[in-house]
Amino acid sequence: MATKRVLTGMRTTGQLHLGHYVGALKQWIETQNSGEYDCYFLLADIQALTTHADRPELLTQSVRDVVLDWLSVGLDPARADVHYVLQSQVAERHELSLLLAMIAKYNELLRNPTLKAEMKEIKDVTLGFICYPVDQVADIYMVSPTPPSRGDKLLVPVGEDQVPHLEYARELARRFNDKYGEVFVPCEALVGEVGRLVGIDGQAKMSKSLNNAIYLADDAETVKAKVMKMFTDPKRIRADIPGETKNNPVFIYHRAFNPDKQEVAELTERYEKGKVGDIEVKEKLAKVLNNFLDPIREMRAHYDNTAEVRDIVIAGSEAARKMCQPVIESVREKMHLVYPL
Ligand code: TRP
Repeated sequence: MATKRVLTGMRTTGQLHLGHYVGALKQWIETQNSGEYDCYFLLADIQALTTHADRPELLTQSVRDVVLDWLSVGLDPARADVHYVLQSQVAERHELSLLLAMIAKYNELLRNPTLKAEMKEIKDVTLGFICYPVDQVADIYMVSPTPPSRGDKLLVPVGEDQVPHLEYARELARRFNDKYGEVFVPCEALVGEVGRLVGIDGQAKMSKSLNNAIYLADDAETVKAKVMKMFTDPKRIRADIPGETKNNPVFIYHRAFNPDKQEVAELTERYEKGKVGDIEVKEKLAKVLNNFLDPIREMRAHYDNTAEVRDIVIAGSEAARKMCQPVIESVREKMHLVYPL
């Protein structure tokens, strides 16, 4: 029977927020719940080091935070088909990364648009950083079905910004196969619909560094306070003036999170006619978000302060090592690294 695997991941650089939910987690949960795939969710602590090598202690805390965030939204490692993998704990993956680096070209890395954009933001670009796209190819292919057979699938659910990395993974895998013989199946990006959530300040992206995020771990009061401070239609200075809803962050969130579509339609209509104040729309949004976050908070409380987090990560990393061992064996063989001395 054909093997169907999913691998995706996140850098562990801090707590997750609603933007992560809309842009990634929601789709990961759907993929998990389809029951069609063996899922590997990667805690990319090595990739986090490419930009945070001066603050390693932050990363240790972040791994725990991200695991709790994942658990709380329902990525369920108690299922036999779900594994939480800590990147630094899979030694075979590092070896795969190093060997793939031998056929990766310096110049093609510098052309990668995602890497290029990120490099502009960084003062001291390290070698580790420049190599991260190759390292990410190793992440994906550490769970490559071996030996590959027809119909095997390796899917990578990601946001739009990761597409160049996925194209590169396919390219590098093909190059390896052409040079040394078939080892890797082509991987495929699974790009979600929604993608990006604006910040509470109306900036294009919710992010920790912009300080405009609502975290999955925020308590109800914090969420309410953040919502009451949210940007709305800047041209609307009084509640009886018709307002704009399409690009209005408060309405964007209502559309993304309010399950009561009728309420959203009604509020939109009243807002556009100047018949509802910002406060009412915001109070309703705070309720909606807190209703959404309540079960997430409950789940977090269930896992917090338990040793389970550690066990989950150890077990998941071990599962990935098992997958990666035959991969690295065949890569070594194809690259003539098996010596009859
Ligand atoms: N680059 C991804 C990010 O910044 C994280 C990541 C690391 C990843 N390895 C991966 C994503 C492998 C998909 C597959 O969020």
